[in-house]
Amino acid sequence: MSTKIVFVTGANRGIGFAIVQALSTRFPNNTYLLGVRSLSNGQEAIKTLQSLGLASTFHAIEIDITSDSSIQTAISSISAQHPRVDVLVNNAAIAERTKPSEPGFRDSCNKTLNANVTSFFSITSAFLPLLHASPRPHIINISSARASMYKQTHAQLPPTASIPYNVSKTALNVGMLEMAKLEPGVLFQAASPGHCKTAFNGWTGKRDPLDGARVVVELVGDEGKEWGMGFWEFEEERMGRVEW
Ligand SMILES: NC(=O)c1ccc[n+]([C@@H]2O[C@H](COP(=O)([O-])OP(=O)(O)OC[C@H]3O[C@@H](n4cnc5c(N)ncnc54)[C@H](OP(=O)(O)O)[C@@H]3O)[C@@H](O)[C@H]2O)c1
Repeated sequence: MSTKIVFVTGANRGIGFAIVQALSTRFPNNTYLLGVRSLSNGQEAIKTLQSLGLASTFHAIEIDITSDSSIQTAISSISAQHPRVDVLVNNAAIAERTKPSEPGFRDSCNKTLNANVTSFFSITSAFLPLLHASPRPHIINISSARASMYKQTHAQLPPTASIPYNVSKTALNVGMLEMAKLEPGVLFQAASPGHCKTAFNGWTGKRDPLDGARVVVELVGDEGKEWGMGFWEFEEERMGRVEW
């Protein structure tokens, strides 16, 4: 398909913004719907994209991924202007850092799992009618190397910053596999952007968010490859399927 309609949650800043920027740079004819909690932040983000010389069609769509009514309002707003969504990028997430022994852990853990896992199911389910109007419905979940059971058990991860976050990303990957069984006509993929410099980690990440976004560009791009379902990352100039 020559032009796609792409919806990205958490698109006003960080990796979500970089995903829109990188996709628009590579595929300018696509339409980009920026899922944002605050429309004014979304408009600012669009101005920034335009100031970078990007000429794609951009629209800000208000959505709080933890609110079913907000998700429904976003769907109505998209449906009023667009016949379908071709690519849904579930990017928005949080990481509460409370430890299990600390007060408030139950709330922190539930909040993180709600935003990072339950919202995936709710948004994905709600977007299915728009996705099924696409000839090639495609969902990309922004996951993390932290999700990997293999890395966890082979000392391949740095010290844990947030237990609820790590659990949520493993659950997200399993959730994706379960949703894929229910929706065989939809291509589900999980992507790891790597450790990127964003507010998420207090700007301690080593990678530019634009580098983190490259994996999504590869997965969205019609490069003549059928990537299939899996967990993908783009490291050291190589696109790879990661064991998880
Ligand atoms: N940074 C890394 O090193 C790294 C590594 C691996 C994976 N990831 C993944 O990459 C994704 C993006 O991370 P990031 O580093 O770009 O984080 P970020 O800079 O903190 O941005 C998070 C985005 O999510 C949005 N968001 C949070 N809660 C929301 C809600 N309830 N409803 C709607 N939007 C909400 C935020 O909106 P507001 O601006 O309104 O708060 C913001 O746009 C996440 O899935 C994260 O797990 C990041």
